[in-house]
Amino acid sequence: MAKTLALYLHEMETTHAIDPRLTGLINHLAETCKEISFKVSQGALAGILGSAGSENVQGETQKKLDIIANEIMCRACTESGFVSAVASEEMDHALQVPADAEIGPYLVLFDPLDGSSNIDINVSIGTIFSILPAGTPHRDVKDEEFLQSGRHQLAAGYVIYGPQTQLVLTLGLGVMMFTLDIATGNFYQTAQNVVIDESTKEFAINCSNMRHWEAPVQRYVTELLAGKTGVRQKDFNMRWVAAMVAEVHRILNRGGIFMYPKDHRDPSKPGKLRLMYEANPMSWLIEQAHGKATNGHENILDIEPTGLHQRVAVFLGAKEEVELVTSYHQ
Ligand code: AHG
Ligand code: MN
Ligand code: MN
Repeated sequence: MAKTLALYLHEMETTHAIDPRLTGLINHLAETCKEISFKVSQGALAGILGSAGSENVQGETQKKLDIIANEIMCRACTESGFVSAVASEEMDHALQVPADAEIGPYLVLFDPLDGSSNIDINVSIGTIFSILPAGTPHRDVKDEEFLQSGRHQLAAGYVIYGPQTQLVLTLGLGVMMFTLDIATGNFYQTAQNVVIDESTKEFAINCSNMRHWEAPVQRYVTELLAGKTGVRQKDFNMRWVAAMVAEVHRILNRGGIFMYPKDHRDPSKPGKLRLMYEANPMSWLIEQAHGKATNGHENILDIEPTGLHQRVAVFLGAKEEVELVTSYHQ
């Protein structure tokens, strides 16, 4: 029988001195995502489909499941005793732990529901999380305390709700995958020390935005599309699931490059994806799997954040391709 997530985490405590409070928090997050997974699997039967009719801080229309998943994550984290505060895509500011609940040494950032446009069409979605140090457990946490670069992450990962529910995790000790067994309710390890090939023939980008891209991205994708007879001298395949969780999951499993560049439409938005709870955790997973992640200029994990909800251009996956498209920006 494969190893459970709980056993893997316990082993990391003894072999790598991982703090039992951190493994406690991760076990707790896994339990929480089981609850989201169950709601997702019920769909219309649980009344979770459709729009909530509200907007989040970034002016995006919220789906019912965005709000439900956010509430589940917020409650679970703030009641866990392991966190000083949490921050989420769906909330303007950090959320404090209630006065009557215990606090702990971690800050958790999350995208409670990634791939919102897939919810109503029964296509893969996920939850992304990033765990940062809070120092000594304390209350009245300021938003600024979350503004630590991706290099400070203590754990990062996602849960994908697809044909299977899987939890993908790094503690900085490689990338591990666990699959939820709905018969026993356990996450079992189904892949370990995942490695992404340096080269690939598959790319992912929303080509409908092509006319808005900057010159380096136009050049790179034009070369990919030229195939065998172009400068790249090979044919490339393309995929677009419209959920970063699913794109990263595909890349961790069979390679590829994923891009969400910034474009000319809104100069105030350097890309669509959010640094703190999308790009940073995913970039750490990709680096841990021997891939690379940049914003076209520097490694995403080295970016010093300035805002909880700041956006960033993202190029991640197979090293050779990320290095090539990054070099075009120089
Ligand atoms: P979210 O649902 O959390 O807002 O994130 C959606 C993001 C990302 O997951 C995905 O890669 C991208 O938006 C899809 O963008 P398009 O609408 O351009 O396809
Ligand atoms: Mn998202
Ligand atoms: Mn989201």
